[in-house]
Amino acid sequence: MKDLIDRCQPLLSLSAKMNFDFDSQTRRKLGYQLIEVVDRFFASLADRPVQPAAEDRIYPPRLSRLPESGEDPAQVLDQVCGELVDNGFHVPSAHYLGMMNPTPTYMAFLAESLVAALNPQLASLDRSQTASRIEAETVRWVGELVGWQNAPSGTFTTGGNEANLSALAMALSAHFPDVIENGVASIGAQPVFYASMEAHHSLDKSAGMLGLGRKALRRIPVNDRLQLNVQQLEAAIREDLESGKRPFCIVATAGTTSSGAIDDILRIHEICRRYNLWLHVDGAYGAAVLFSNRHRDLVRGIEQADSVTFDPHKWLAMPFAAGLLLTRHPEVLERTFSVTCPYLQKAPAGTLPDNRNISAQWSRRMNSLKLWLTLRVHGRRAYERLIDRQMRLAQSFARWVANSEYFELAAPQVLPILNLRVRAKGISPQKLDALHASIIEEVNREGQRWISAATVNGQSVIRTMVISYLTEERHIKDLQASLVAACSSLGLESSCGDGRPRPPKPSEARQRPLPATALSPDHAPQGRLVMDNQHRPLQFRRIASAELGEQAGDGFAAGADQL
Ligand SMILES: Cc1ncc(COP(=O)(O)O)c(C=O)c1O
Repeated sequence: MKDLIDRCQPLLSLSAKMNFDFDSQTRRKLGYQLIEVVDRFFASLADRPVQPAAEDRIYPPRLSRLPESGEDPAQVLDQVCGELVDNGFHVPSAHYLGMMNPTPTYMAFLAESLVAALNPQLASLDRSQTASRIEAETVRWVGELVGWQNAPSGTFTTGGNEANLSALAMALSAHFPDVIENGVASIGAQPVFYASMEAHHSLDKSAGMLGLGRKALRRIPVNDRLQLNVQQLEAAIREDLESGKRPFCIVATAGTTSSGAIDDILRIHEICRRYNLWLHVDGAYGAAVLFSNRHRDLVRGIEQADSVTFDPHKWLAMPFAAGLLLTRHPEVLERTFSVTCPYLQKAPAGTLPDNRNISAQWSRRMNSLKLWLTLRVHGRRAYERLIDRQMRLAQSFARWVANSEYFELAAPQVLPILNLRVRAKGISPQKLDALHASIIEEVNREGQRWISAATVNGQSVIRTMVISYLTEERHIKDLQASLVAACSSLGLESSCGDGRPRPPKPSEARQRPLPATALSPDHAPQGRLVMDNQHRPLQFRRIASAELGEQAGDGFAAGADQL
């Protein structure tokens, strides 16, 4: 008998419940446990430090081993939430003021949970009819904002990188229809495309991955507004044509990564028409201004593009991953990505396409629901308010910089990105870079707030920006105070603005050591940086709230009833 039971054991255990399959009570308990954590996290974001103070930051020295058997789920969840929340780096904090990653909307968090539970397979229409419809609807909503009323098409991507790669693949196949089957070699000459020196490096990556070679990307210098210089663009195209190269595309950027500059899309479009080139607009960040009637003119001409990159996980307050490739050429999108697949049922003609045929991806999660749900609950106008408010905050911040005794604007403020440069004439680029690094390190040291560094048109800048819907004037004031404190703790003197150095007075002999970054052998400062020729106390013009017309709350934070 025992022998029989032993032999049947594998069959018995096959019919037993898998241990992934929790009962309803456990599922609810764990779900509520998580919701508690998420709720406390959201409630803390307006004041939460971005990260622990420098001395408490933990960089794990080693990774633990693969668990052979499991542990109590509530305890593991508790532990990992604690670690991630207490020791984490918090992009969603209102004090995250350095790059274009947002605080996710709560509706987006709910959507992501739902998508993970339902796990729709977006590759094929017959396994995701409703999910595909929602995705197509979201693509159409944004495509119509671009200005394409006639059946805009497109696909959700993992982000701007994939969208740019896919757009270049489309541009190639539109220009050289044989390339899909016969490869780049069939072109018989070097294909080349153009973008500004300030355009995103995903274009270099894409050129390599598409087999064009990174040198196929011709980087064109920028003008003093950091826009692609159209005269030099045209000269480069002519030169390439004369030397037998095959130009096929120009990428205009709407909102450069470092400074938010927007290329002159209309003039670039003229050149595209003249030379029969595909116009791609990389609006990963800046195309979001389309949601604001007041500011959408900043990207005028975008409707002339053949394709557009648009990242909801930047200015539209979506969690990763949410990128969009939009196009007014559905047939090129399909030609570029479709393959026949005998084991999958084809979408019936006249319905929506199978997503696998319009995307670089195959199996695909539903990245659209979070934006669709946020738009259904809050509407376009919530984004309009967000964008208008952040533009006002940035303009006010820019005025502060212009009046600052330590800083000046290193680039025109176009979108809510501000590039700051220390007022220090006659300082070498290396020392300026080291000084900026020291100021950023000081500002970021206690962990409360976070800003970043960038190089704009070859020059070092301190990069700040407003991206979270929770960021208000008080967060900007806190950053301003921290920037000033960093300068004075580094021993910088306020400047009258002309940058002329004055000799230190004997009473000023106190010299604070600069942090390690500023003292590195390559960048060692020679003596103390003194940049003022007047003995003025530090003064900072206070900008009244009335000047900002500030009203906190775009609706994402305040709840739908306020909209
Ligand atoms: C202008 C621009 N394009 C493309 C990208 C790449 O986007 P992602 O990081 O979503 O892949 C970025 C990222 O910052 C960007 O700023």
